[in-house]
This record gives sequence, C-alpha cells and structure tokens, in this order.
Amino acid sequence: MNESVQMKIAVVVVAAGSGERLGHGVPKARVPLGGEPMLVHSLRGILASGVASQIAVAIPADDEILRGICGSLSAEAAGAQGPEIVVVDGGGTRAESVAAALAAIAPGTTAVLIHDAARPLTPVEVYHRVVKSLAAGALAVIPALAVVDTVKTVTPTAPGEPAVERVSGTPGRSQLRAIQTPQGFDLATLRRAHEGAAGMSAAEYAAITDDAMLVEALGEPVYVVHGSPHSLKITTPTDLLLAEAMLQGPLAPRWIEG
Ligand code: CTP
Ligand code: MG
Repeated sequence: MNESVQMKIAVVVVAAGSGERLGHGVPKARVPLGGEPMLVHSLRGILASGVASQIAVAIPADDEILRGICGSLSAEAAGAQGPEIVVVDGGGTRAESVAAALAAIAPGTTAVLIHDAARPLTPVEVYHRVVKSLAAGALAVIPALAVVDTVKTVTPTAPGEPAVERVSGTPGRSQLRAIQTPQGFDLATLRRAHEGAAGMSAAEYAAITDDAMLVEALGEPVYVVHGSPHSLKITTPTDLLLAEAMLQGPLAPRWIEG
C-alpha cells in the first residue's frame, strides 16, 4: 500500500496473556490452531498485510517457545526483505504488555497498530482499512462490528431479591459496536495516552481492555472502520472450535473476505 510507504508503521502484537479462560494450561499464543501455534497465524497475517516496517511482540517473560517462534519467523521475514521482528517481555496486564512493546519501537516510526495475538485470523483487508484511515489523517482508528444481541447493563441485587442481578439500562443497539484489533494510532498520540495512564491504580490499569480507551480519555476523536467476523478473539474453547472450522471447514474458501 502507498500509505504504508509514507507512514513507517510498527505493529505491536500482545501475546503475553496466560489464556485462563481457554484453559489449555499454556499461554494462549502457544495453543495450536490448524496444527500451528496461534502466534504463528497472527504473525503471518501481519506479514501478509505488508503494512509493517517492524513487528514488536510482547510474550510472557522467559517463554522460550514463543521466543523461538518469533525468531524463526523473523529469519523468514528477513530473507524476504520483510519487517524486523523484536521480542519483549510482557507485563501483568494487557496495558503493561503494550507499554513494554512501545518502548522497543524503532526511531523514525510514525504510526503503530496494536493487535491481539488472540485474533489469529484477522484478514489483511482489516489492516488495510485501518492504515487507510490513518493515512487520511486519523490519530486513532479501530475496527468494529455491529452488535447482534440486545445488550443491557446490570447491577448486583441485595440479599433476598429473587435473582443475583437486576437490569439498570438498555443502550440503543444501533449505536453499539463490538471492537476488535488491530487498533491504529499516530505513535506520539498513543505514547501520550499511555503516559496519561501512569498514575492509575492497579485495578484501573487492569480494566484497560483496549488502547482506544486511553486515547478517548485524552479527548481525541477515535474513528471506526469495518472489522471482520474472521477477526474473532479466541477467548473460550467454543471460540477455538469456530476458528478451527474457519480454517478447515468445507466452506473455508467462501469465507475469504473480498
Ligand atoms: N495480553 C498480554 N499481556 C497480558 C494480558 C493479555 O499481552 N498481561 C494479551 C493476550 O495475550 C491477548 C490479548 O492481550 O492476545 C487479549 O487478552 P485476552 O484475550 O484476555 O487473553 P488472556 O489474558 O491470555 O486470556 P485470559 O484473560 O482468559 O487469561
Ligand atoms: Mg486476559
């Protein structure tokens, strides 16, 4: 893409989570999908997009298996004049893992995309939509899907009430979006947003589930582009089944996004 030539983009991959809810007993990025660790799919998707001049991967400290995966893909990418892949130790929360990777980004980089390793099947078109919007002047841009379920907010009930929670509201569904990654940012803006989080308590820090939240807190506009159902986040065993089906099912060729 022309835009990525002008912009110098680093892609951060956060792969330092433990995968408690998936329950495989190993970090989620190591869990096999279609016979290969999830991180391999995530990195291959980024390489295929062609947008990155550098990839910074945050992995659990001392995870030699994930470090080895990054090393072999790095050698492959170098052979094909592809981006440099660097590895950093992640932190105890997603936001800390992002911060660790931001510290390793090469000088001269102007924009950064933050991607969850837990979204291994993100189509290249989503990367391109995010980069196009950054090239058009957005300081922050995120991919999203319309929400299909009715979503309600709830509050806990008092002892003696007939159920554990009670509905407190129903936001209008037409305005709701489920947010995915890669989330794209002007690098200076994202660094400023992360500095803004420096004084937060541990509980507040743990509640930062995406980077756009921090940019919203700065009061900067965050733009939205269309995401993809293929970009699902693998959180539970059911998600893994769905991803396996997407890769191996008889309908797989028809699911490639145009
Ligand atoms: N992540 C990270 N560092 C952390 C926590 C999460 O890099 N300390 C990454 C995960 O590796 C994942 C993404 O953030 O790619 C989204 O997190 P999530 O889906 O919650 O993954 P896990 O934290 O691994 O899963 P769980 O919450 O079930 O333990
Ligand atoms: Mg988590």
